[in-house]
Amino acid sequence: MDGTVDGIAESAVDGPVGGAAAAIELKGVSHSYRGRLALGPIDLTIEAGEFVTVVGPSGCGKSTLLRAIAGFTAPTAGGITASGVPVDGPDPSRGFVFQQSRLFPWLTVAANVGFGLRRRPKAERVARVDELLALTGLADAARLRPYELSGGMRQRAAIARALAPGPRVLLMDEPFAALDAFTRERMQDEVRDLWRRTGTTVVFITHSVDEAVYLGTRILALSGSPGRVVLDERSELPALDHPRTDPRFGVSRERLAEVVRSAAEGAGDLVGDPGRGRTLAAEA
Ligand SMILES: Nc1ncnc2c1ncn2[C@@H]1O[C@H](COP(=O)(O)OP(=O)(O)OP(=O)(O)O)[C@@H](O)[C@H]1O
Ligand SMILES: [Mg+2]
Repeated sequence: MDGTVDGIAESAVDGPVGGAAAAIELKGVSHSYRGRLALGPIDLTIEAGEFVTVVGPSGCGKSTLLRAIAGFTAPTAGGITASGVPVDGPDPSRGFVFQQSRLFPWLTVAANVGFGLRRRPKAERVARVDELLALTGLADAARLRPYELSGGMRQRAAIARALAPGPRVLLMDEPFAALDAFTRERMQDEVRDLWRRTGTTVVFITHSVDEAVYLGTRILALSGSPGRVVLDERSELPALDHPRTDPRFGVSRERLAEVVRSAAEGAGDLVGDPGRGRTLAAEA
């Protein structure tokens, strides 16, 4: 990692095995809590640079899925690899952003962002933190503590902290759910911009169909518990300059809303091509 924003992009596209391995691969992954199946089985291949949004009814196992990819919990069946390497615990190559920012309240914004870099030489750490604060619009907030920030600023700091070690994959679990509608739209634009500039692979969980369609180059819908993939489709909308005004936006949103509704009612018939993805708007 050379400590530049471009460095993130390079690390995001070059796997350790020559870029041949998928960014994330799940094979037969399922998870049970106390013997009760909560997720899966799931087979899924995510390529480097994809922005995957995941929607599904409450309690269907979305967080369980993301935590397994992060390596916070081991799935009770199946296996997960990241760039071809088995996931057997958390790793700086996979950044995580929670619904609540979970910043360290006693540290400044700059120290929070630099937390994952504390073993790096000071000059490198300072330069990297400055760059990320600028990238996330927090340069003026470097010396503030989390309680002095707005909700949107807190989530931006959490995103900067997750990006600091130059992760290949950014895992986001409803990162904007606690924000007001206006801030949320702004944060969506910012994260979309960030993804376009860095090329980092993103897996983003949301309850908002609108958000899923706006951000996802690939959209997954999970069934009700135990969550299985009932829709897996590609979308070209995030590559456009103004996705919201494109007629395909409303069409995709309506269709996804329908899939999520029937998934919540337990009637989630398979749509698309689970594991690889197809085009959402083209189907509509
Ligand atoms: N640590 C745990 N111990 C026992 N059961 C759990 C644990 N974590 C989650 N569960 C159960 O597993 C199921 C899936 O939970 P999970 O948090 O993954 O769902 P989710 O899709 O993220 O829900 P939400 O949309 O409400 O955040 C739920 O029934 C939940 O009660
Ligand atoms: Mg959850």
